[in-house]
Amino acid sequence: RTSKDIGGPPPPSPLRQGANTTFLIGVAGGTASGKSSVCERIMQKLREDMKDQSASRFLHVAQDNFYRDLTPDEQANMSAFNFDHPSAFAWNEIVATLRDLKAGRPALIPQYDFVTSSRKPESVPVQSADVVLFDGILAFYSAELRELFDLMLFVDVDDDTRLARRVRRDLVERKRDVLHVLEQYERTVKPSFAQFILPTKQFAHIIVPRGLENSVAIDLIQQHIKWRLSERQIAANTRP
Ligand code: ADP
Ligand code: C5P
Ligand code: MG
Repeated sequence: RTSKDIGGPPPPSPLRQGANTTFLIGVAGGTASGKSSVCERIMQKLREDMKDQSASRFLHVAQDNFYRDLTPDEQANMSAFNFDHPSAFAWNEIVATLRDLKAGRPALIPQYDFVTSSRKPESVPVQSADVVLFDGILAFYSAELRELFDLMLFVDVDDDTRLARRVRRDLVERKRDVLHVLEQYERTVKPSFAQFILPTKQFAHIIVPRGLENSVAIDLIQQHIKWRLSERQIAANTRP
């Protein structure tokens, strides 16, 4: 028997089922491709475009925050540790956090210190939002995570450009020295990109060549998000 047979309400349409959930966007790509910058730009454009509405509608979470703490043995031999291998991340925590945010629940975001390669003692509580952007080198690695994303972007930038940006960023922001960055790139970053990250490009809905420079792609993505939000708003407003 269907609900119609017994006189109950019809089952909700797929659109209505999704009406009250967060629109979750995954952004993957190699190191220093501009994933975090692209997320920030998309949020900035959404805020500008929808300025009559609350800024709390948009949230950016980085996978970098979910590096796990190293064991004492790993710590003792840190220069050999592969931070680009899937085992470097706390996957259960990532999945639980994104599930909470997608369901509209608040979450605790761990804070990571790239200077010491360890977690800070404090975590930051966040409220969920209408749109949550999650970026990381391995954002598409886990099938459980892929199932949660409503939109998947892969930022595609030449390896040499990424290396140049990474050297500059790691020297300034992550307090590394140039020889360490180059040695790490050759030993772990580059081979892990080929083995674990590049194969996930196939899961993307949209590949963004040249990252932040590609303002046409970013405009299109922003318009798409806006349209998906208004579609959900209409569905929510027309609930019986
Ligand atoms: P990811 O999150 O993919 O590692 P980031 O967004 O942190 O990449 O970008 C890496 C570095 O490159 C940062 O210092 C950022 O400011 C810089 N950057 C990103 N996109 C561009 C661009 N199109 N042109 C110049 N510098 C850029
Ligand atoms: O922001 P981005 O995607 O570049 O961050 C991921 C990169 O951070 C990885 O390529 C990894 O090599 C690097 N990393 C690091 N030291 C850590 C943790 C991550 O160099 N302690
Ligand atoms: Mg980043």
